[in-house]
Amino acid sequence: MATKTTLFIIGSVLFTFITVPLFFAHADDDDSEKKRYHKISDWDDDSSDDDSDRGGHRKRKRERRRKHDHRKSHIKPVNNSVYKEECGGCHFAYQPELLPGASWMKIMADLDDHFEEPVELDDDLKKIISAYLKSNSAEFSSAKRAVKILRSLRNQIPMRITDTPYIREKHHEIKPEVFKRESVGSSSNCIACHTTAEQGVYEDDNVKIPK
Ligand code: HEC
Ligand code: HEC
Repeated sequence: MATKTTLFIIGSVLFTFITVPLFFAHADDDDSEKKRYHKISDWDDDSSDDDSDRGGHRKRKRERRRKHDHRKSHIKPVNNSVYKEECGGCHFAYQPELLPGASWMKIMADLDDHFEEPVELDDDLKKIISAYLKSNSAEFSSAKRAVKILRSLRNQIPMRITDTPYIREKHHEIKPEVFKRESVGSSSNCIACHTTAEQGVYEDDNVKIPK
């Protein structure tokens, strides 16, 4: 009886000694496998996360830059109805960003003799237009071309956009005959060639000189 018990105990101990390590070894295996799998998927996740995140980040950055560029390179469209109405009747309503404030003030002070074409305007309307032009002039713009116009002036105060060195330089290859075409009239008629001038987009891609 005693020997049977002893044998059972020895057997159990042996069984335990053999199976428990085996079990642990197996569990360990399982665990390390899981760990390895985890690592792989982590790495995968990491890399894909990283990639997508980096990619997404890059994409977002690119989009932001593009938006920024868009804002930077394009002149704001005219958004003042009084100005559009009163100053856009005889010619294209030039965006205020195309000249410095001092030029606009000079133009507004000299409307009786506006390029040999008198412009009659109530004082109320004149005030509204002056305020709009002044607060949206080239000095208040971050648009690439407005900055360049301003920089090219070196403190001159021209009455014409077409008299600014930057704009003159951009058109110096166009022959005078082209500006005199009936379809154009003069260099002041931006919209004749810049199909997107009204949107403030003066990109050379959108230029089409009419016959
Ligand atoms: C009665 C017609 C008429 C009205 C109204 C008029 N203009 Fe003009 N504007 C002209 C003429 C004509 C020219 C010269 C265009 C040319 O040389 O081909 C001119 C030229 C200009 C130019 C210079 C364009 C260039 O060559 O760069 C500016 C700037 C300008 N006008 C601003 C204004 C503003 C601001 C108003 C409103 C207060 C206004 N104009 C209203 C007739 C008008
Ligand atoms: C006879 C057609 C014509 C008229 C009118 C005209 N432009 Fe242009 N403009 C051009 C052409 C063509 C170019 C492109 C020159 C080049 O390829 O670099 C240009 C270039 C420009 C550019 C530089 C674009 C760039 O990306 O470098 C600006 C800004 C511009 N014009 C503004 C004006 C404004 C403002 C007016 C009116 C006051 C005007 N233009 C009138 C034909 C015209």
